[in-house]
Amino acid sequence: MKYYFKEYEKGYQLLKKKNKSIWAELFSEEFSFDKFDMLSFMEQALPLISIKNKHKRALEYGCGTGAGAYYLEQNGFIVDAIDISPTAIELAKEIANQRESKVNYILGDVCNSSLKNINYDLIVDNYCLQGIVTDDDRKRLFSFIHSNLSSIGYYLIGSVIFKEDRVYEDCYFDEESGKCYVEIIDKLNEYEDKIQINNKYYIPERKHPKPENLKLEVGKC
Ligand SMILES: C[S@@+](CC[C@H](N)C(=O)[O-])C[C@H]1O[C@@H](n2cnc3c(N)ncnc32)[C@H](O)[C@@H]1O
Repeated sequence: MKYYFKEYEKGYQLLKKKNKSIWAELFSEEFSFDKFDMLSFMEQALPLISIKNKHKRALEYGCGTGAGAYYLEQNGFIVDAIDISPTAIELAKEIANQRESKVNYILGDVCNSSLKNINYDLIVDNYCLQGIVTDDDRKRLFSFIHSNLSSIGYYLIGSVIFKEDRVYEDCYFDEESGKCYVEIIDKLNEYEDKIQINNKYYIPERKHPKPENLKLEVGKC
């Protein structure tokens, strides 16, 4: 399992302890299960999407506790939703039970998923992509999208991207790649993707590409 997944599992254990319902609530009181970060974007985007199939199929990857997946279901989709964190999936299933939702929650890594040729009409990334940082994982993710999205399907991405005035206090930010690196001081052998700068070691923790670079990257898949 990739090193950056541990942070999510820890976050969801905290979320469970604090009785909160979505990831963003860990950082701001303004969010809730029915008021998730990507909601206003989804409200604007879904009416623009035209899917002719009687049974519309959607996938949300990095679904967390399922706020986006539930919203898609409420909007007429049959939904699969995948997340790497066992605690997130456990909470998502609990909430689904309470709300009588039929979303199919799957515990797994979208970069190494065995799902194949599903032909989804819609795939949604609801703030997962910035946490998938290594070049290999991103290639695997986009190849997954390519093989599971219908040729006339839609791919919606809500993600953190490059911002000129963002301050990276504890990180080294490489503007060229959009990768945000944090220093590591022990267990150096565990990190394949580490880089060395002035005798210090760093690993990529986030990726905030410029919009045009993200467009190119997605276009290549
Ligand atoms: C910022 S959180 C957003 C969660 C959720 N979409 C929401 O809006 O509440 C990013 C999510 O992506 C999940 N994630 C990160 N890498 C993943 C991967 N490779 N496969 C599946 N899920 C992943 C994390 O566990 C986490 O739940």
